[in-house]
Amino acid sequence: MLKMEQIFANNSNWVTKRLEADPSYFERLSQGQTPQILYVGCSDSRVTAEDLMGLEPGQAFVHRNIANMVISIDLNFMSVLNYAVRHLKVQDIVVCGHYGCGGVKAAMTSQDLGILNPWLRNIRDVYRLHKKELNAINDIDKRNDRLVELNVQEQCINLLKTAAVQVAIKERQLTVHSWVFDVRCGKLVDLNLDFDNLLKEITEIYSLDV
Ligand code: CO
Repeated sequence: MLKMEQIFANNSNWVTKRLEADPSYFERLSQGQTPQILYVGCSDSRVTAEDLMGLEPGQAFVHRNIANMVISIDLNFMSVLNYAVRHLKVQDIVVCGHYGCGGVKAAMTSQDLGILNPWLRNIRDVYRLHKKELNAINDIDKRNDRLVELNVQEQCINLLKTAAVQVAIKERQLTVHSWVFDVRCGKLVDLNLDFDNLLKEITEIYSLDV
């Protein structure tokens, strides 16, 4: 079992290595942050943020929750989003799902999971939106994988419904990216979604006067 003391030893080593490479590293870090990216990912312990993107501290503002959800009444997420977009002025927002996501899998079962039910309900709604396509996939793992992708798509659309994102697109062409991490091989997959097309029919409903 991992001892907590080990973590502090690891931390000491990390500080030493950082300072060896750059004596002013922490001095620079302490002066503030100007991340270019807001990363929205799953809390899953296998799906890190900086590690899998090869980024350093200071490069990504990070929010993680079960199944990388963008929920308009989640005060936690909406605070992160508004701070990142309106104050830190990030240029890119990434929603990164991952194959084998436990949250997505759970939403495909009828199990009563207590307090998780209202959270997973949002993923069930994604399933309902794409029920036809998903039910046509017989292989359960492939169906799960597809729901992971469609969930990323819908969470990106949820981002595009917010005033903060609409303002930033207008002001500085902020870009929303739809990615999936494949735990089985470590690769990041860009779903390359065409949001202009996806939003065509719903823009008139969700566009705000920004
Ligand atoms: Co997950």
